[in-house]
Amino acid sequence: MIDGSLPKPKEVGPGGLLAILGGGQLGRMTAIAARTMGYHVRVMDPEPACPASFVADETIVGRWDDVDAARRLATGAGAVTLEIEQIGVDALREVAGLAPLRPGVEAVRIIQDKTLQKTWLAENGFPVGPFRVVRSEAELRDAAGALGGNVFVKIGRGGYDGRGQARLGLDKPATDEDIAAAWADLGSKPSVAERALDLECEISVMAARSPSGEVGVFPAARNFHENQILAWSVLPAGISQELEARAEKLAADLVVKLDLVGLLCAELFVTRTGEMFVNELAPRPHNSYHQSERGCVTSQFEQLVRAVCNLPLGETNLISPCAIANLLGDLWLHGEPDFPAALAVPGVRLHLYEKHTPRAGRKMGHLSSVGATAEEALERVLEAKKKL
Ligand SMILES: Nc1ncnc2c1ncn2[C@@H]1O[C@H](COP(=O)(O)OP(=O)(O)OP(=O)(O)O)[C@@H](O)[C@H]1O
Ligand SMILES: [Mg+2]
Repeated sequence: MIDGSLPKPKEVGPGGLLAILGGGQLGRMTAIAARTMGYHVRVMDPEPACPASFVADETIVGRWDDVDAARRLATGAGAVTLEIEQIGVDALREVAGLAPLRPGVEAVRIIQDKTLQKTWLAENGFPVGPFRVVRSEAELRDAAGALGGNVFVKIGRGGYDGRGQARLGLDKPATDEDIAAAWADLGSKPSVAERALDLECEISVMAARSPSGEVGVFPAARNFHENQILAWSVLPAGISQELEARAEKLAADLVVKLDLVGLLCAELFVTRTGEMFVNELAPRPHNSYHQSERGCVTSQFEQLVRAVCNLPLGETNLISPCAIANLLGDLWLHGEPDFPAALAVPGVRLHLYEKHTPRAGRKMGHLSSVGATAEEALERVLEAKKKL
């Protein structure tokens, strides 16, 4: 724990009302943690039957840019947090005028647009791979050439789970037609072009910060993606002490520099030449820390509640190696998965988000496990997933 020195704002004690912008699975799991601690929970989501609606006291139905719904969400709340960064800035400002919004408008505004976020990271001296912001097909063509031909293109706003991404020059050099098609596919919107890096592994690191300036950092998690979607994640990451220390310091520096209160997850790339780069930031709970519910003294969800309510942060250390594997809608294509078979694997638990329409690529739930080692925890969730 690092002790910053800010004046201590009042805490929102248990029994108070915590409001959450967004009611997806991250909001649901945050709401469960908050209710465990005795808070009342109100969420806002475009979908009345969103995953968090089944555990919240109240659901306000509204789109991410609905200022009126945001006002109703924030009115009377002790604190407001978010589980998705794509909230309209006007809605965020409305909330911030009515209740403590944690994280605040400025940090979310920077993070929610990849063009702003990457530029902010570079300007503030944080390590990022070679990239260029592109605003036209011609700029994309120039950038692809300057970045070495093999590039990822990501739209500034609204992309997730690999959506809103294009890949150029993977197998053969991209032609002008390929570049034009990619630009059109992405909706001809301001984007970030990045050199495709030669990755040794992907890790993430989560920091929490409270309004009084207390910072707590979780150990780094190791992540594995399939088709640009997180497939599994394990704690500890099994990286060198030196990399672990660098990652944890990076997360602490980021959360302070962004002046962010709440949770900040940094997705990091480790290259084969030993460099570490920030891929992207998330100002909220993150899929790669769901296993913190099983293996850490404090889960990421409880930590978020503590941070935004200005309670002392919980300890972040590991009690046990732990892992998760995501369950995508594809698993439902041939009927209900065999959950009893998966649950017969020692150490495994099932987490479903109550999403009623499975679709290919949609995150429906996850399996978690603990084990004597990171390898065992991971083997267990992967074995259980195979049995589904
Ligand atoms: N510059 C890069 N070099 C190598 N691999 C990359 C690069 N950019 C993205 N990837 C791969 O694609 C994955 C998804 O990229 P990114 O996290 O930027 O997209 P996203 O759609 O915002 O994903 P999510 O919302 O799931 O985090 C990365 O985790 C990594 O596996
Ligand atoms: Mg990502």
